[in-house]
Amino acid sequence: MAILKIARMGHPILTRRADPVADPGAGEIRHLVSDMIDTLLDAGAAGLAAPQVHMPLRIFVFRITPERAGSSPEDGPLPVTVVINPEIDLLSEERELRWEGCLSIPGLRGAVPRSPRVRYAGVDCEGRAVGAVASGFHANLVQHEHDHLDGILYPMRMRDFSLFGFTEELARTDTGKPGR
Ligand code: NI
Repeated sequence: MAILKIARMGHPILTRRADPVADPGAGEIRHLVSDMIDTLLDAGAAGLAAPQVHMPLRIFVFRITPERAGSSPEDGPLPVTVVINPEIDLLSEERELRWEGCLSIPGLRGAVPRSPRVRYAGVDCEGRAVGAVASGFHANLVQHEHDHLDGILYPMRMRDFSLFGFTEELARTDTGKPGR
C-alpha cells in the first residue's frame, strides 16, 4: 500500500499526452494501479489518472459513491473501476455545464461544458473489457479523467471564468455545488 504524491497544475506531466500501456497485466502496472486506488481512496476523491501521480500512462481509476450517483442506470453507483487504454465517444452534440474539481488543482472548482452522454471502453489489469454508456456524473467524471490522458486540465475546457473559484468562497455563496 502506498499513497502517491499528486502532481499539481504547472507540472509538465499534466499537459503532455500519456502513452498507451503495452501490457496491462504487467507486474509494475498492477502495482501502479493498486497504489493509484490507495491514493484515490485516501484523498476521498472520485477519480484519479496516472499522469496525476507522475506516470505518463493511459490509465485512470474512478468510483461513483451512492451519494454521487444519479437516478439513471447509466449513472448508478460503481465500485472502484480501473480503465486502461480507454477510448471515449461523446454521444451528444449538446454541452452542459458541470461543476468540477481536481486533485491537481486543489481548493478550486469550475463549471465545465461537458457532453451529457458518452460511451467509453478500455481494459483492466486482467485484460477484461471495461466500459459503459454513461450519463450524468458518470459521463462527466469519465470525460474529466480521459482528458488527463490527453494533457487537458478542466480549466482548459472552461468558457466562463466567472464560474471558477475557490471551493470555500463558492460554498459561501452557494454558487458551486459540492463535488469531486
Ligand atoms: Ni482531475
